[in-house]
Amino acid sequence: MSTKLNIGLFGFGCVGQGLYHVLNNSTGFKADIIKVCVKNKEKSRTIDVQKITYDKTVILNDDIINVVVELIDDATEAYNIVKTALSKGKHVVTANKKMLALHLSELYTLAQQNKVSLLYEASACGSIPIIRALEEYFDNEDLEKVTGIFNGTTNYILTKTINEKLSYADALKQAQDNGFAESDPTNDVEGFDAKYKAVIIALHAFGIILKADDVLNIGITELGDQDITYAQEKKYKIKLTPVIKRLPNDTVTAFVLPQFIKATNQLFNVDNEFNGVITEGRFSGEQFQQGRGAGSYPTGAAVLSDVSALSYGYKYEFKKHLQKHPSGFTSDVIITVYFRYKQSKDVELLNFIDVSETYKSNDYNYVIGKINLTSLIKNKTYLKEKKLFVALVNDVIGIL
Ligand SMILES: NC(=O)c1ccc[n+]([C@@H]2O[C@H](COP(=O)([O-])OP(=O)(O)OC[C@H]3O[C@@H](n4cnc5c(N)ncnc54)[C@H](OP(=O)(O)O)[C@@H]3O)[C@@H](O)[C@H]2O)c1
Repeated sequence: MSTKLNIGLFGFGCVGQGLYHVLNNSTGFKADIIKVCVKNKEKSRTIDVQKITYDKTVILNDDIINVVVELIDDATEAYNIVKTALSKGKHVVTANKKMLALHLSELYTLAQQNKVSLLYEASACGSIPIIRALEEYFDNEDLEKVTGIFNGTTNYILTKTINEKLSYADALKQAQDNGFAESDPTNDVEGFDAKYKAVIIALHAFGIILKADDVLNIGITELGDQDITYAQEKKYKIKLTPVIKRLPNDTVTAFVLPQFIKATNQLFNVDNEFNGVITEGRFSGEQFQQGRGAGSYPTGAAVLSDVSALSYGYKYEFKKHLQKHPSGFTSDVIITVYFRYKQSKDVELLNFIDVSETYKSNDYNYVIGKINLTSLIKNKTYLKEKKLFVALVNDVIGIL
């Protein structure tokens, strides 16, 4: 039996307006947005002023409202809103990956205790229905790995640098001019956004709640012209790739690193602001999904899909988390990297186990070889300070 949904919406920016549009133009599904809570009283609005409030308690204390859709750009305030809404027995739909990744364990528990749904398809890879696929289709399959391109801003910048030979600075400016990157792009270009999505996906793919701080993220800010030339000469593309992988000792590793991608990889042709997700199952093999990772309507459509699912009482079952999940998280794994360095001391710091290629010239040196991921974690700050670039050469991961 379907439930009448009375929505309290927080945020009427890019995604909030997208949801409003797709909901009003959807032919098969109806739900009422009762109130919209926003922040800035000076902004003019395109909706009935009677619907607008600046006071969050108007929505949170209204018993008629049974669904809170949280689409604001402030993770701390989003956390307060979502926590209160769940505690009051309201279902919640959110797109806020940072808020979810930082508080996943607590919010998961709160939703279970209050017997309400907490849905967040739009938080990971926009319009790609990856969470629903993991929950519903791969719920009984042992997955080996999930990887992909989870961040549209960096993919846009990388596409422009590799395909159109723009410098990193020019590509970033173009991304900002086109609205793909925020004026402060740190979250995207340093790999935090991709990491938050990886934390969310890890719960549904492997049943494990990772601590975001444990997961290494190295972004694309140190990418230099020499690295771009190297990739072009080898006919590689560079993509920022989160990798979440189950290891033979039944632990899970996860990290975010730039990666050289060969033409045979499904991610090779995922360009511009698009996202792509590869899932590797023990029995199903490799599956690939591609779609728009951001944007008003694609993200609004993902939010609408969650709202629509609420109308038939849908909840994530978290089967893998509740039944059997890996014994823990580890960063003690061996990966193959390309490392552009300045002094031989830099190479010593990364403790290469095995070197397959070296290059030295007056202004540019690199080494390719195997290292332990923990060496990157220990030296992350140093690499950034010295502007050294590191990229995964492939995502084959070994353990000692
Ligand atoms: N943009 C995308 O393509 C995309 C894709 C996937 C996920 N997301 C996630 O979706 C969320 C929203 O992103 P967005 O791009 O739509 O942001 P946005 O365009 O910057 O809009 C943010 C909205 O939040 C409102 N707001 C901020 N603080 C508030 C508060 N304390 N109380 C009430 N309203 C508040 C703002 O109010 P005013 O209108 O008054 O300023 C504005 O309407 C974020 O978590 C983002 O990470 C975005």
